[in-house]
Amino acid sequence: MPPSLRFLLLLLVAGSGGATAAAFELEEATIDSIHRAFAAGELTSRGLVELYLRRIASLNPALHAVIELDPDGALAAADRADAAARSSSSALPPLHGIPVLLKDNIAAAGPLNATVGSLAMVGSRPAGDAGVVERLRSAGAVLLGTASLSEWCNFRGPGIPAGWSPRGGQGKNPYVPSATPCSSSSGSAIAAATNMAAVTIGTETDGSIMCPSSFNSVVGIKPTVGLTSRAGVIIISPRMDTVGTVSDAVHVLEAIVGYDARDAEATRMASQYIPEGGYRQFLNIDGLRAKRLGILRKDFFWFPSGSVQQKVFSEHFNIMSKIGAVLVDNLEIPSMDVINDAVQSGERALMLAEFKLSLNYYLSELATSPVRSLSDIIDFNNKHRIEERMAEFGQDYLIQSEATNGIGPNEKHAIARLNKLCKRGIEKVMQDNKLDAIVAPGASAHSLLAIGGYPAITVPAGYASNGVPFAICFGGLKGSEPKLIEIAYSFEQATKVRKPPSLQHSII
Ligand SMILES: *[C@@H]1O[C@H](CO)[C@@H](O)[C@H](O)[C@H]1NC(C)=O
Repeated sequence: MPPSLRFLLLLLVAGSGGATAAAFELEEATIDSIHRAFAAGELTSRGLVELYLRRIASLNPALHAVIELDPDGALAAADRADAAARSSSSALPPLHGIPVLLKDNIAAAGPLNATVGSLAMVGSRPAGDAGVVERLRSAGAVLLGTASLSEWCNFRGPGIPAGWSPRGGQGKNPYVPSATPCSSSSGSAIAAATNMAAVTIGTETDGSIMCPSSFNSVVGIKPTVGLTSRAGVIIISPRMDTVGTVSDAVHVLEAIVGYDARDAEATRMASQYIPEGGYRQFLNIDGLRAKRLGILRKDFFWFPSGSVQQKVFSEHFNIMSKIGAVLVDNLEIPSMDVINDAVQSGERALMLAEFKLSLNYYLSELATSPVRSLSDIIDFNNKHRIEERMAEFGQDYLIQSEATNGIGPNEKHAIARLNKLCKRGIEKVMQDNKLDAIVAPGASAHSLLAIGGYPAITVPAGYASNGVPFAICFGGLKGSEPKLIEIAYSFEQATKVRKPPSLQHSII
């Protein structure tokens, strides 16, 4: 088996005085290293859950990455995993005994609430697991709790602080507490960066995995839309949302992709992209060789000359060339200004209409819920202005979304426009230049990749002069995950940029 992608080069082991911690190093823990420790008898899944619970108890008061924990459920699931390991001689499932945090918009049967950070959603119960949760459980994962996020995945209204929600408080960047953690899967990224769980799951509509991964120095994979089921996930737009991951991402990707009858159309279409033998075969140290990478220079790499970013990216490009990548520089996507303007591109109009449709559908499927529609949620917010900090932040997107009326002429026009922007934009540039991937800094290409449901992987690339991390992003056409994994893995192994946050400010 190839070595695991080492996303989490973690950490000073805060609070590791306990007996379980002595034998096992939580720093640099990956799914593979955890499984080796299980096999060597140095660690049990129960011991690991206890370690993470202690770590969360110590770090979360400062970082606000976790909203809820289910210690009893997690320990019981860990015990079942440990018992299975003792009694089974056959191969264990790929995420056997691995603790996972779910972004707070992914529903799971059991005591964990999925609330998208909103007080209005507390007490809502799903009829069962979300599609991805089903797959995580059958892959052996242990649900630890929920990760914080920007309320309503950043779709409540403009001007709301990234990483803030009434339920989770303000998520903090563990590198530079005064910097943004970026949104909306902020808690998932902060928790992965600080080793609060082995695996964290986020979701992305437009930038919500890529941006927090970049700002928190973890790897993020945003799979092709439809590769992972969106059933049971509270999402903004069925066109764009994906369930992605920010640590040991390929293992997790492999475990969560696939057809789901509850998200049939998209998952059936995307199933064709899943390679025989899974994704781990693409963890290829030599994966950059002969890959053609398109550098979107003009639109994205505008750093002041002499800046850290400029220096770091040019070093990275040199390394990639040395390994054998073919860099096709100075590429430009037509109409990038339109793509980056959600109003002009039609993205906003479509998101507003789809948010209402998908949220109302999600709410209608719940077993019980204090709210049953977007309009109930808006009413709730109006009645709880103080707790919700409504007076300060408002809820303009929710209100605008409520005013929409399904996919009408306006929205169809928006879809046609977005399709055209994709065909004449990224698809044409990639075909004309025979590219395997495009390259952009951080999450700068998020809209370009969101509007077509394209996949991307972000990998830690450096630290700005103020200490805030930044990533490099490799994006591609639908179903290009195998190539992106080869490229990202090869880049990561050649550069090994990730450094854990020092966390002194949050531990003291
Ligand atoms: C979920 O919310 C309910 C309140 O409706 C609360 O009693 C319960 O403790 C929450 N679950 C967890 C795991 O915190």
